[in-house]
Amino acid sequence: MSDDQGGEHNFASDNVSAVCPEIMAAIVNANVGSVGSYGSDPLTARLTERLKEVFETDLVAIPVATGTAANALALSVLTPPYGSVLCAESAHINTDECGAPEFYMGGAKLLGLPAPAGKLSADSVELAIAQARAGGLQSAQPHAISLTQSTEWGTVYSRQELASISAIAAKNDIAVHMDGSRLANGLVRLGCSPAEMTWKSGIDVLSFGATKNGAMAAEMVIFFDCDRAAGLAARHKRAGHLWSKSRFLSAQLLAYLTDDLWLRNAGNANVSATYLAEGLLKIEGVCLLQPVEANEVFVILPEPVSTRLRHRGLGFAAWRRGNLFNQNAFRFVTSYSTRTSDIDRLLNSA
Ligand SMILES: Cc1ncc(COP(=O)(O)O)c(C=O)c1O
Repeated sequence: MSDDQGGEHNFASDNVSAVCPEIMAAIVNANVGSVGSYGSDPLTARLTERLKEVFETDLVAIPVATGTAANALALSVLTPPYGSVLCAESAHINTDECGAPEFYMGGAKLLGLPAPAGKLSADSVELAIAQARAGGLQSAQPHAISLTQSTEWGTVYSRQELASISAIAAKNDIAVHMDGSRLANGLVRLGCSPAEMTWKSGIDVLSFGATKNGAMAAEMVIFFDCDRAAGLAARHKRAGHLWSKSRFLSAQLLAYLTDDLWLRNAGNANVSATYLAEGLLKIEGVCLLQPVEANEVFVILPEPVSTRLRHRGLGFAAWRRGNLFNQNAFRFVTSYSTRTSDIDRLLNSA
């Protein structure tokens, strides 16, 4: 965390942050001359090679501009219209994508499972599969499991947890999708390699996020099993997500994966969240709703504290989700750009 002084920081989301300078420079540098369109440019070719290095395997990747598009496209390849996708009740695909996954899948069903701390468990997944199998034709059969790393509750699946869910998926011939909108935050937390947290843990398809961690608008769908990706390119185009000037997406993602920028950015966000949580916990009456494992802090704040923070113009989000209706529940999100001084200012205002 740097100690630079600056304007008021907003903790409502990591989406509120500016584009990080390295990525903005890469966009500007890409803005020269004529190059191939629709992904046939040199930057996109270099990105594909870089991804194979980073993930230590062959893969199929398509860049898109939003996480919703990445999730919906990925799931549409895995699941037929009459199938279902098992996910956490709190999954972004289930609560915040306006039915895009169902729309792209042509009507397939999302089955939201109870997931304390935002995580699916091997047991709940196994039970849901057994129930669907027992339902026969009456039940939409699961074709995919979707889990989010780091989760919508700021927690992180361990490699063991990922492996145990994937093992059940494999046993039942079901694909595993990871919503990695905050992938780098989970990766930094686990301290393992990108390969270990994904395909070596049984993940077949990844939505790789960069926007929340410093990009302007850049995500990817990555298939680790290239044979499974049949139809992805056509769906990408049909959905209107194939950019003619794809070089500007690829430029962002290449910069993101250069000199560990993605890991450095996520590292700052994670360290900042821990520092923020420790500071908040020193205030009487504050308690955490979830362990802080990545870059999100979910807390109960006494009413006078939240009122003071609001009056001082600080940005953070009221959090009412699922069966959590507590008026005093809030979410604070840190990012690559959060500074120690931003957090100190917030804590001093509380
Ligand atoms: C867990 C998760 N997945 C996916 C997304 C992608 O959303 P968007 O389509 O807004 O880029 C988000 C954004 O908030 C998210 O939190």
